[in-house]
Amino acid sequence: MKYSGNRKTIAILTICFAIATAQTFAQKEHHHDERPPQNLKVLPKNTTGEEIHTIMRGYSLSLGVRCNFCHAATEGEKPKFDFPSDEKPEKEIARKMIKMVDAINNKYLAKIEDGSLERITCVTCHMGRPKPLVSVDSLPKKNRD
Ligand code: HEC
Ligand code: HEC
Repeated sequence: MKYSGNRKTIAILTICFAIATAQTFAQKEHHHDERPPQNLKVLPKNTTGEEIHTIMRGYSLSLGVRCNFCHAATEGEKPKFDFPSDEKPEKEIARKMIKMVDAINNKYLAKIEDGSLERITCVTCHMGRPKPLVSVDSLPKKNRD
């Protein structure tokens, strides 16, 4: 009797553990919050949370940075982010860059030839760096003397 009771308890505990583990994994997969964005000033207001994350991963990769380069976050191993906050100046620079990229693509590149030129993106200039490597030294030089 006692034995089977223990088995029952173990079985229940095992199920509870399995559910808890499954929930942990589910939370990990969706650990970015997918609430609709609250403070978009440049990107279309109806951009979904999921689309925002794809775009943001693109910015991070293009500049070779993490989210906290542009977004206010607490220090430490597991930072807490305040994504809607406009505290960091980098976020405001990024907004201007988004507008610039849009203008280059739509006002200029689209009007060259039949509009078949590649669109530029952040990586066109940044190439994995926070500041593009714009160096006159990298140009081929004529011998001065
Ligand atoms: C190069 C700067 C930059 C980086 C890096 C960056 N973001 Fe952003 N993020 C922005 C800008 C700019 C906006 C606001 C866009 C606008 O105003 O339309 C934004 C907006 C957001 C928003 C919407 C916030 C709201 O509610 O209005 C989320 C969520 C977000 N970013 C998540 C991320 C995540 C996650 C990462 C890392 C994977 C990341 N960002 C990396 C610049 C950046
Ligand atoms: C036409 C080239 C070009 C493109 C395209 C471009 N940038 Fe930039 N970006 C620059 C230059 C130049 C600077 C200034 C670098 C410096 O200060 O030396 C800069 C600086 C920045 C900075 C400030 C970096 C710092 O260290 O303070 C951020 C943030 C940024 N860009 C984000 C973006 C994002 C996001 C995109 C895509 C939406 C983008 N840029 C596309 C040329 C570009």
